[in-house]
Amino acid sequence: MPDMKTYDFGSGRTDPASFPVAELAAAAQQGIEEVGTDFVNYPGELGHLGLREIMAMRETKREGIEVSPDHLTLTNGSFQGVTMVAEALMERPGEIIVTEELTYSGTIGAYKRMGAQLVGVPIDDDGMRIDALDRTLGELARRGTPPRFVYTLATYQNPTGSVMPRPRRFELLEVARKHRVVVVEDNCYGDVHFEGPVQPALYALDDSPDVVYLCSLSKIFGPGVRLGYVLARPPMMERLLDRRYDGGNSLLAAAVCAAYFRDRLWDHIEFRNALLKEKRDAVFAAFEKYGDGLCSWTRPVGGLFIWVGFPPVANRQVLREQLAERQVLHAPGSSFHVHGQDVPFLRLAFGFIDREDVEEGVRLLVECVRAAVADSAAIAASESESVTMASVV
Ligand SMILES: Cc1ncc(COP(=O)(O)O)c(C=O)c1O
Repeated sequence: MPDMKTYDFGSGRTDPASFPVAELAAAAQQGIEEVGTDFVNYPGELGHLGLREIMAMRETKREGIEVSPDHLTLTNGSFQGVTMVAEALMERPGEIIVTEELTYSGTIGAYKRMGAQLVGVPIDDDGMRIDALDRTLGELARRGTPPRFVYTLATYQNPTGSVMPRPRRFELLEVARKHRVVVVEDNCYGDVHFEGPVQPALYALDDSPDVVYLCSLSKIFGPGVRLGYVLARPPMMERLLDRRYDGGNSLLAAAVCAAYFRDRLWDHIEFRNALLKEKRDAVFAAFEKYGDGLCSWTRPVGGLFIWVGFPPVANRQVLREQLAERQVLHAPGSSFHVHGQDVPFLRLAFGFIDREDVEEGVRLLVECVRAAVADSAAIAASESESVTMASVV
């Protein structure tokens, strides 16, 4: 039997067909020669200076603020930043971290395993609701359990794709200041931008050390290089580095990526974003063709995800089975809810799948949703029939 075709909307990866293998191989040669015998040394807590300078320039150019390479430490993907801040800011298990009610499943898993209690703040189309954040922080303070920090995905939120507008960003920072809470901003999708104005990072709107910023090369390049970084102003950076026990980040990976990105960072980003935008638009078009009236979907202006809603009556087990049978890979909505609530949504990542497969993948997905809804309707009909029969008997 031939292998069944897979429609991979599973995780947030970029376009494999356009990954610059030959250019990266040439950069590897150059990067290795540049470091030379210095590989016998540890890279230091901040890491390879050349890559830090390029990433500081990336932030300076996007945000319009001066970012010093000395306020930037290279990490093993942004995920190491996610855990590093919790290790540095938490004092004991059971302490609270506040997040959006729906947030990155990896962060939920890591923080829970580190012993944190997560408190979710409701979101709307513009991200975290600030009235709810204010109330939550007030209530936690009254109970004597203030959170160690607020973790937020203000830009191209994972999983919903929302972007917090600028005025709300100021409100968030003001509420955090009022309650004296550190804000950790995970901006790993920051440059995966397709259209419209770019909203400023929280880090760019507040120069206090109490705003920590995480970013990555995974979403503009590939998670395989395992490179990300944390930006923090003193004394926060020292506090974070105090909990860094890994001897620093791979000089090899950083040197190779520095050689690759030195003269082509923005060209690289622009080229990849154009390909990603095409795939995103193909998902929109397919939903308009097949899903109208049955599913809802967000229209993110950046990032790698579309948050797809389906009728709450849909039988979840049938939906799961049908999607597995048709090999439509996706992430279930419940994995992004801080308490695992079975929300009637699923997340589609559109970066990895072949452009040609998008339409069929979405068509199959909608077919699965239709089957799951029909199954619930059939159960409801048979239940009401047996009630009627019982009353006749
Ligand atoms: C919001 C967010 N943060 C962090 C990560 C971790 O990515 P990486 O460690 O590859 O940078 C991801 C990956 O999907 C993510 O979506």
